[in-house]
Amino acid sequence: MPASSTQNRQAFGLALRFIAPYRGQVIGALLALTFTAGITLSLGQGLRLLVDQGFATRSPDLLNQSVGLFFILVVALAIGTFARFYLVSWIGERVVADIRKQVFDHLIDLHPGFYESNRGLEIQSRLTADTTVLQSVIGTTVSIALRNALMLLGGVILLFVTNPKLTSIVMIAIPLVIAPIVFFGRRVRKLSRLSQDRVADVGSYVGEILGQIKTVQAYNHQSQDRMQFAQVVEDTFEVARQRIRQRAWLTCIVIMLVLGAIGAMLWVGGMDVIAGRISGGELAAFVFYSLIVGVSAGALSEVIGELQRAAGAGARIVELLRTEREIRPPATDLRHLPATISGNIAFDQVQFAYPTRPDAPVISDFSLTVRAGETLALVGPSGAGKSTLFDLLLRFFDISSGQISVEGCDICQLDPDELRRSFAIVSQNPALFFGTVADNIRYGRPDASMEEVRAAARAAHADEFVAAMPQGYETRLGDAGLGLSGGQKQRLAIARALLVDAPILLLDEATSALDAESEHLIQQALPRLMEGRTTLVIAHRLATVKHADRIAVIDGGRLVALGTHTELIQNNDLYARLAELQFGVTT
Ligand SMILES: Nc1ncnc2c1ncn2[C@@H]1O[C@H](COP(=O)(O)OP(=O)(O)O)[C@@H](O)[C@H]1O
Ligand SMILES: [Mg+2]
Repeated sequence: MPASSTQNRQAFGLALRFIAPYRGQVIGALLALTFTAGITLSLGQGLRLLVDQGFATRSPDLLNQSVGLFFILVVALAIGTFARFYLVSWIGERVVADIRKQVFDHLIDLHPGFYESNRGLEIQSRLTADTTVLQSVIGTTVSIALRNALMLLGGVILLFVTNPKLTSIVMIAIPLVIAPIVFFGRRVRKLSRLSQDRVADVGSYVGEILGQIKTVQAYNHQSQDRMQFAQVVEDTFEVARQRIRQRAWLTCIVIMLVLGAIGAMLWVGGMDVIAGRISGGELAAFVFYSLIVGVSAGALSEVIGELQRAAGAGARIVELLRTEREIRPPATDLRHLPATISGNIAFDQVQFAYPTRPDAPVISDFSLTVRAGETLALVGPSGAGKSTLFDLLLRFFDISSGQISVEGCDICQLDPDELRRSFAIVSQNPALFFGTVADNIRYGRPDASMEEVRAAARAAHADEFVAAMPQGYETRLGDAGLGLSGGQKQRLAIARALLVDAPILLLDEATSALDAESEHLIQQALPRLMEGRTTLVIAHRLATVKHADRIAVIDGGRLVALGTHTELIQNNDLYARLAELQFGVTT
């Protein structure tokens, strides 16, 4: 995909911006680059001396001198190449490290709405794949391009200096030799990229199947999987076969054209040597420079494709960095919450639709006041908008009209960080992270002591099962708490919420994940958690609604009734029905 000029400019700007701090290294790299190119070019002159003065005159002294000079040049070249390679690669790695950090720092602050329309996976690939492309380009390709441009220029000049007549022949011959090589080279590279993608397909296919092995075997799906997998593998082979065929052609053509061209040159030049028009050394130097010019021209034409790929990658990264976060503190009139808040919450005629479906309001005309310290249960059918209300309170999304206030402050006038410090949330699917049990409990307060962690776990009735784990609190959890039951995860999430000790607690009860035993334990943990805080709890259990001061019945994004369990059972049909279905209460 050819990069547009805007993309080129963006990518170039990005590279410059990130390279700028490392001026010293860049200058060093350029010096080393020029130095090594100069030495490589002067090797040709060394070759000429060696042939003309060493071999032709048959003088051992001159041969000694020539070979001595040659070794000096070789050592200088080796040192220069070391410096060049080290500095250039260093810059590439350094710049990519900086870009990765900056992109991640930026991403982690973006509003959750951004991740709804942009799949997390795609962004992950930008962060890894695109920066890797940039790294190879900045750390390798640019250096190849510069070095070969220098060599090409120097080589052509030296060719003309050595022998203008032969040079004219070479200038005509080089494109004829290079063109087919470049043509097949491009094909090979395109196919090898395709082939890598196919290999990745094989990997992800296996990963998916083996990850779901119980389902696969339970449905006796193996024979279909064998067939599908065989297809994936055969596709991979087919791409690989095409690639190696092109590659074989490439090698064959390179040998014929390059060696053929050298042969032709030796013939023309050899005639001149025989006729005494040029020396043997000149011819040797000439062949040397032609090779350099040919190789440089080939390398240059190859890396142009790479540079374009990098421009695409760079432009995508620029686009990520340019994404503004939508949830921000107000530009003017920033307000602050008091140091201790009692936990008043008010929804006032709130309207909201998710950004992905702007014409389908999820919350409509929603007004509700939650008093400081009370426990309010939210009940309603699945999809009524209960979890969405929590998202709005934490300001993960901005409402389209109306107002939400905490402690009398419109939440849009607060710094989101400050707002969120007022809440502790236990969500429906508790999120656990890779790390130890203690790390997970400490999540909201990394400086909490081990004693505090234990106390929170005890209060959440998690202490017992944690103690039974192989390394207790230092047991590492797999990805997303792999290896824990739903109830255990939720108790860890409760411990985490207890530890941050925020004035308002948001609790999204999970029903499906829990067995009766865990439910009982969680039920025991909750009163401790709700004590002295304003609590909003999305309730699926009778014990919870009975414990609540008031119950809000929500349906289709609207508040349809508000009252105590006894009141609602009598007055509200929807509640009575839900109570019967969910809590087994018969009226
Ligand atoms: N991220 C989202 N994007 C678009 N629609 C959503 C999103 N999350 C939830 N919804 C929709 O909003 C409605 C309310 O969802 P939710 O608040 O999760 O319901 P509840 O928690 O009451 O079961 C549902 O119709 C759901 O499909
Ligand atoms: Mg929900």
